[in-house]
Amino acid sequence: MFTLIVDGKEITIEDGKTILEAARENGIDIPTICWHAATTANGLCRMCVVEIEGVRLLQPACIVKAGKDMKVQTRSERVIRARRTILELLASTMDLSDAPEVLAMMDEYGASAERFPDAARRESEVKDDNPMYIRDYSKCLLCWRCVQVCAEDAQYTYAINFDGRGFKTQIGTFFDKPIPETTCVLCGQCVGVCPTGALKPKRQYLLEQGVSAEEISVMNTGRKRRKS
Ligand code: SF4
Ligand code: FES
Repeated sequence: MFTLIVDGKEITIEDGKTILEAARENGIDIPTICWHAATTANGLCRMCVVEIEGVRLLQPACIVKAGKDMKVQTRSERVIRARRTILELLASTMDLSDAPEVLAMMDEYGASAERFPDAARRESEVKDDNPMYIRDYSKCLLCWRCVQVCAEDAQYTYAINFDGRGFKTQIGTFFDKPIPETTCVLCGQCVGVCPTGALKPKRQYLLEQGVSAEEISVMNTGRKRRKS
């Protein structure tokens, strides 16, 4: 056990905890986007950055271990500005309309979706190639959660991974094969951890497109439902 100071509060924690764990276990919230309790933290989105006394750069709380006598600020002006900019960059480059948690953060941090009007946007056709879920990578913020649950964090299936480079990086299948031609077993775990609606149950997607429950039932079974 050791002690550190977070936002002026002295807290005592067990060895090996991250700053995020130390803060949350003591009632101090730090926002996260890519972090998920079921996946290995990778420090990709940087929404969880905090300021540590004596450390020049802001540090991602989800992967940096808490240290003895550390002095951490989770809501300094610099931290708030960094988080606001991260949100504004996301909003400028992708479709956040199905990401309620991120939209709530935008409100909280006063982030403007218009801040970077000339930014290139992530565009993608909806991939509808299997009976279980659709993939709309224009809504993907590359949190990597889906890839992780498809691999060692849960399913060990390895159907999806990063594809492309730089701004063109996106989640994809091997050689961009349709899902039924991959190792995917349609377990749905990727859909369950996606924070943005980039992966969505097919039924939900069809209902949103105005397809009726009756028509979906016919699509799934080939039969009309009997009227009771
Ligand atoms: S598809 Fe969803 S879970 Fe996968 S990387 Fe994109 S936002 Fe994250
Ligand atoms: S939540 Fe820590 S980097 Fe994304």
